[in-house]
Amino acid sequence: MAADAATAEMAAASLCDDLEPATTRTRIRDVLAAGAARAGERVVVGGWVRTGREQGKGSFAFLELSDGSCAAPLQVIVDASVHPLARLTATGTSVLVEGEIKEPPQGTKQNVELKVSRVIEVGEVDAAAYPLPKGKVKIPLETLRDVVHLRSRTNTIGAVARIRHQLAYATHSFFNENGFLYVHTPIITTSDCEGAGEMFQVTTLFSQAEKTEKELKENPAPSESDVMEAKVLAQEKGNAVAQLKAAKASKQDIDAAVAELKKAKENVSRLEERSKLKPGIPHRDDGTVAFENDFFKRQAFLTVSGQLQVETYACALSSVYTFGPTFRAENSHTSRHLAEFWMVEPEIAFANLQDDMNCAEKYVQYLCKWLLDHCREDMEFMVKNFDRSAIERLQLVSSTPFVRISYTKAVELLKNVTGKKFENPVEWGIDLASEHERYLTEEIFKKPVIVYNYPKGIKAFYMRLNDDQKTVAAMDVLVPKVGELVGGSQREERLDVLKQSILFELSEMCFTATLYSFEVKELWILDAGLPLEPYEWYLDLRRFGSVKHSGFGLGFERMILFATGMENIRDVIPFPRYPGRADL
Ligand code: 4AD
Ligand code: MG
Repeated sequence: MAADAATAEMAAASLCDDLEPATTRTRIRDVLAAGAARAGERVVVGGWVRTGREQGKGSFAFLELSDGSCAAPLQVIVDASVHPLARLTATGTSVLVEGEIKEPPQGTKQNVELKVSRVIEVGEVDAAAYPLPKGKVKIPLETLRDVVHLRSRTNTIGAVARIRHQLAYATHSFFNENGFLYVHTPIITTSDCEGAGEMFQVTTLFSQAEKTEKELKENPAPSESDVMEAKVLAQEKGNAVAQLKAAKASKQDIDAAVAELKKAKENVSRLEERSKLKPGIPHRDDGTVAFENDFFKRQAFLTVSGQLQVETYACALSSVYTFGPTFRAENSHTSRHLAEFWMVEPEIAFANLQDDMNCAEKYVQYLCKWLLDHCREDMEFMVKNFDRSAIERLQLVSSTPFVRISYTKAVELLKNVTGKKFENPVEWGIDLASEHERYLTEEIFKKPVIVYNYPKGIKAFYMRLNDDQKTVAAMDVLVPKVGELVGGSQREERLDVLKQSILFELSEMCFTATLYSFEVKELWILDAGLPLEPYEWYLDLRRFGSVKHSGFGLGFERMILFATGMENIRDVIPFPRYPGRADL
């Protein structure tokens, strides 16, 4: 169904006599796509003025109108007799207009234009105060980050938003076509998947402390002597009851004295409770934070990856994926890192490392092909304005098998490089730096490269140990412009090996990270005990019907960088979060 037919149907379905009639608006994309075929038709369009200029000595105005449905604007012509032109022409003005689609005069670059007969609504702009530049004046992307609430009105951010949407849609389409179920994994978690300890904590202890402090200021906590006094009073009331009972007083008198005693006792409990109120974060006797007073009664964090949780569904429903926001509190100021980014994480049961690589390759190729088929206009915009080879790159990647080499081989190749001196020396065992990754994919192979079997010391605890006992079945997909796009692995499915690996990880973490409570650390330090409790549920997956399984995570913004050729990851997410910045 055409989009405007669909809106008309929706509008008809929602007819309510007591409400303003629904709006039947035609998207600019549909007007432009139909071209002259719709000439003569009357439509309502809405949008924001990109450029506006009065012509013919102020007798009419041309407005270039964009509603975000496509890159190209629609040219709209308004006569001065229809609306005061000065109120329409400022960049950023919003208008809802009705008019007739017309074929423009021969020789103009538009394929159609709209001759306005009625201006339905206008949202005016004070041109002097509007933060975005007028018309086609370019503004640096860095500057636009200071007006994150308005930058979506620019051509570049609009194009990126459409490409981002298409990549998200293609992601669901790819996994749906391949029999994967979409699983929503939690954003708040109590497990640290990557073990790097770079997590944002989720706590209400600070707001609780603030509330308590405010309350104590208004109504100070009772002193010890206040409590003592109340206790003495309660004691007296108790004595009074005893005396009345001994004197065989009337039931009425005894009941009255008992009621007073009850009140006095309640007062003691209340004062005792309040006397415990202390300003600040609650601490245990040993000085550690008392997380048992926190919202979840334990420490909780924003997730760094949905992998561990999605594994529980893979070990039941076979092929699953999660796609959601992830958070890393690393102090990275690079053009490839965000503190909040989106990750696509498939997880497949009965799958080994090769299956994992095949899935990642097919998925990335599918995304590239999808953009070529569905986002041509926006990709052409990227080619013209940001990266001349963006479309060629999509074509190459969608049609060429990825190179696959082991980490050991990759290190050998990098060690033999003579034409370039790396900032970080190459040695077997190092975590490849971005400069190494990009050299492999951009200079040596000139296409995507999958590096596999990394040294176990630099990878996460859940990756499957290879028979050489030195490497794990990990794989990273490296692509030109970006470096690491995907990180994945075959998961350790053997209970004993996984336990060992967790214990090793814990022994390292105990002394560095704050993730584990003091008791856990102490337990470990004292008797090298088994502080495995937080991982028991994960180990259960290996205890009960363990299965070979694999998965990966694709950094969604890195994919957008790769596709568009944009330079900075902060410009491909609507609301970038990075050290020092979290606007809106
Ligand atoms: O390699 P990573 O850390 O892998 C995981 O988190 C696994 N648990 C995934 C899995 O196997 N299910 O992250 C995966 C990808 C990276 O390859 C990179 O593209 C992206 O996430 N990424 C980031 N993107 C933006 N900003 C950051 N700070 C990122 N950190 C990782
Ligand atoms: Mg990684």
